[in-house]
Amino acid sequence: MRQKIVAGNWKMNTTLKEAQSLTSEIMGMVADEARNKVQIILCPPFLYLKTLKDQLGSEKRIQLGAQNCNEHASGAYTGEISPAMLKSLDIPYVIIGHSERRQYFLETGKQLAQKIDGALANGLKPIFCCGEQLAIREAGTHLELVREQISEGLFHLNAEAMKKIIVAYEPVWAIGTGKTATTDQAQEMHLVIRKYLETKFGKETSEIVPILYGGSVKADNAKELFSCADVDGGLVGGASLKSRDFVEIIKSI
Ligand code: PGA
Repeated sequence: MRQKIVAGNWKMNTTLKEAQSLTSEIMGMVADEARNKVQIILCPPFLYLKTLKDQLGSEKRIQLGAQNCNEHASGAYTGEISPAMLKSLDIPYVIIGHSERRQYFLETGKQLAQKIDGALANGLKPIFCCGEQLAIREAGTHLELVREQISEGLFHLNAEAMKKIIVAYEPVWAIGTGKTATTDQAQEMHLVIRKYLETKFGKETSEIVPILYGGSVKADNAKELFSCADVDGGLVGGASLKSRDFVEIIKSI
């Protein structure tokens, strides 16, 4: 059985107070969900990670992730955060290659492969994002593009390292737009990704890797999306900023 995961990507939102309230609301709402096997991951801005880590204390079902890390180990990179810094705070997860990083910060496939290496070298579990722009889907080359993103970012790994990766498929046209992929579109791409991972890493590994769907996941469409055989959970943006909606999504698995 693959691990089921719901991760909330808060992006550049919330004040410290809001982040603390959101965390405590989520903690309260999932407290009675004793049988729920979902790994919940909150990805707040870097600045709040330490405070929220302390706030979560021994709560195991809710873990923290960073939204990015730098590809270098240390040095003169003003304003950047290294994987070792995240490790030093005991942050287990890190999102790598979100489409907003690719688009606005011009992150390249080569750079993302380096970030993956840095994260793994520090014992972090990367959530590696891929997904096509609308024009690519309309041109019908979306499967090729996503395969290319996967091979650029991950195909230098060996199978053991690949087992530590979580993949998130996020069609760019569905992010923050209210337009969600249909279950057929999501399942098709997730299966293509899994089969592609199998060609490189073998079936045992490809069957272990959780593949999350992201892009306008909401309380009212999560159940349908999560019912797809190869969708192992979600990477949620907007709806992760409202505790009730986020917990509804978690309960949809
Ligand atoms: P969204 O964002 O849920 O607001 O579409 C998803 C993401 O960017 O991870």
